[in-house]
Amino acid sequence: ALHYSFARKSQNQHQMSRNVLQVKASFKVAILGAAGGIGQPLALLVKMSPLVSDLHLYDIANVKGVAADLSHCNTPSRVRDFTGNDELANCLKDVDVIVIPAGVPRKPGMTRDDLFNINAGIVKTLIEAVADNCPDAFIHIISNPVNSTVPIAAEVLKQKGVYDPKKLFGVTTLDVVRANTFVAQKKNVKLIDVDVPVVGGHAGITILPLLSKTKPSVAFTDEEVHDLTVRIQNGGTEVVEAKAGAGSATLSMAYAAARFLESSLRALDGDSDVYECAFVESEVTELPFFASRIKLGKKGVEAVVASDLEGLTEYEKKGLEALKVELKGSIEKGVAFAQKQT
Ligand code: NAD
Ligand code: LMR
Repeated sequence: ALHYSFARKSQNQHQMSRNVLQVKASFKVAILGAAGGIGQPLALLVKMSPLVSDLHLYDIANVKGVAADLSHCNTPSRVRDFTGNDELANCLKDVDVIVIPAGVPRKPGMTRDDLFNINAGIVKTLIEAVADNCPDAFIHIISNPVNSTVPIAAEVLKQKGVYDPKKLFGVTTLDVVRANTFVAQKKNVKLIDVDVPVVGGHAGITILPLLSKTKPSVAFTDEEVHDLTVRIQNGGTEVVEAKAGAGSATLSMAYAAARFLESSLRALDGDSDVYECAFVESEVTELPFFASRIKLGKKGVEAVVASDLEGLTEYEKKGLEALKVELKGSIEKGVAFAQKQT
């Protein structure tokens, strides 16, 4: 089988030792929205994972061909396709992790919140099926606006009586991936070593890179901090504008989602040293959801690294206070949508 490794050195070393030990593929993964711009390259990366035994691809269109194509790769996982509401339950049966990139992407001039009207309903419907068929699975939500779709998912799961806050994640890995890339470029440091925690949410100023907590420690001028922060916050828009109407980030997003999935599978497999940033239910601030570094374990979020919010610079403190206002509104909008529907 082909193997790949993500980002940090420890992960690469970990991956190598895994390959030597011939990891047994044992986890079932479902991708909902698998025929889309993110779904297809994500499915390819997941097909390459030595930890995956079954890969279920669901979409409302074009998924048969994607699955047929992918199934010819001689890697361990078995690929199956599912389409339409009637096949959703079967797609979800016994799945360990569900990744959801279903929904419409931005075009130039739009905010992520402009996607709410379409994507809120899509996420709600999919999560209802998840609640009915695999309530114990880890749920990775990619569909935007993440700051609202995660609270919607939580409400739906609560209404169904199966909400486990430790297993619901808004995927913010792309913000970390971007931060690591941009910092390494700007400061000319070795990319594989760089790790920047990114907290808050996943839209504009709610994306707050904590550059002062960069590992290994890097010195930035005030101007560098400002330029890097703005570039990381606008990374999505940079891609939307470059694609000029043909969608938003898909390849870097697939890479980031595959990294977060691999981390989740390693945690499920018993690895006790797995940390990622994600948007989760949280008590680190007064807001009910917040992205921060979390420790992942077999049961989901094992701990939230609250210490990342201690000892912030004045610039970061200001950013944190400003983002809370917008993030609160987006969370409340999601909760109100889900409650109104019942
Ligand atoms: P896309 O339009 O290329 O693909 C979306 C897919 O979802 C399509 O194949 C479509 O058929 C499918 N779909 C629509 N409704 C569905 C439903 N009810 N059930 C199952 N599948 C359904 O879009 P994309 O570029 O893949 O982006 C998908 C979403 O991911 C967008 O909302 C985008 O904003 C978001 N996104 C999030 C991040 C992040 O960091 N969290 C990054 C990039 C994109
Ligand atoms: C991203 O950060 O690339 C995504 O959230 C997609 C977008 O609309 O920017």
